[in-house]
Amino acid sequence: MKQKQINIKYDEFNSLEELSENDQKVVEAAKKATQSAYAPYSKFRVGAAVLLENGEIITGSNQENAAYPSGLCAERVALFYANAQYPELAVKTLVVCAFYNGNFLKLPIPPCGNCRQVMLETEIRYKNKIRIILYGTEKSFILKDVVSLLPFCFTGDVF
Ligand code: THU
Repeated sequence: MKQKQINIKYDEFNSLEELSENDQKVVEAAKKATQSAYAPYSKFRVGAAVLLENGEIITGSNQENAAYPSGLCAERVALFYANAQYPELAVKTLVVCAFYNGNFLKLPIPPCGNCRQVMLETEIRYKNKIRIILYGTEKSFILKDVVSLLPFCFTGDVF
């Protein structure tokens, strides 16, 4: 038996000013997107912003439903819209943040497993690593690609 280890590197930031101007713009778009969330059940407003390779920023927010599983997370709303409207453009950066009880979360919001899988598909589809920014007011993380969020990922390569 061999014990193995996976190391995941990510950058941690304590304030928005530490980010590049370009990244700050995408974060601001994600923050704004939280306000278009439809979250009457959880009251948890998530915003996502996607930077495309042509510089355009697409945003999404969580859209809930009385039949709970029919709702969709902010990340997938943004990614599916971006991929549907601009199928030829790779996604460069994805930002996620959340607003709850009148405030943005202090700590980074970790995307759910389903969203990570959809991010992975987009990364593979465009053969382009997606930088992930998980924003919090006191701490933000930047990961260099989706695989960093999803070790042992299923890519469909087995077929
Ligand atoms: N949600 C997102 O939109 N993104 C995440 O990364 C985590 C959770 C949404 C789903 C649901 O509308 C609400 O947040 C509470 O789970």
